[in-house]
Amino acid sequence: MSVSTVKKKSAKKKAKKVAPAKKTSKKLKATAPSKNNVKPKLYASLVVQLLSLLKGEHDFIANAANFSALLFSSLPNVNWAGFYFLKDDELVLGPFQGNPACARIPMGTGVCGVAAQRLETIIVPNVHEFPGHIACDVASNSEIVVPLFDGERLLGVLDLDSPTIGRFDDQDAEGLNELVTVFVAHEERLGL
Ligand code: SME
Repeated sequence: MSVSTVKKKSAKKKAKKVAPAKKTSKKLKATAPSKNNVKPKLYASLVVQLLSLLKGEHDFIANAANFSALLFSSLPNVNWAGFYFLKDDELVLGPFQGNPACARIPMGTGVCGVAAQRLETIIVPNVHEFPGHIACDVASNSEIVVPLFDGERLLGVLDLDSPTIGRFDDQDAEGLNELVTVFVAHEERLGL
């Protein structure tokens, strides 16, 4: 299993990476974490755009829907972006952009269920190497799942898929963690 994780309170820490299989090393090299600040700049701009979308709106579903649409339309090489929310110890599909997806994911199952159970951001460079990965779109080759917390309480996860192997890195983990923090803080102010 080729997976890296980022703990909730240490998103800035380098995620542990497992060496990629030889046959995919070329592709991984092409999409290796960039040393420049293109991604941090993009995520900084997304924070501004998200704040503007959330401003004055108190409907949780409308805000989550716009958040997923913002990610889907702004992030390159992403074929699915959306939420699963924790309900009765199960993850239930929330607002998203992309192909129709499975409605319910048990805790500990698939990338989403494992991230929710471990309370960690999980980066999967190659979903075909992740035991139990749930394929909602055959085009998906890599994935990142970021848990959402209200304090210590797990609310659900944000899930992004890409057709590109090794699409997501620590900069994505950091940027997405910041975005979900902004999102949850807004909803908390409204009495989530
Ligand atoms: N791949 C996910 C399932 C959700 S879809 O990607 C939208 C998983 O393994 O949990």
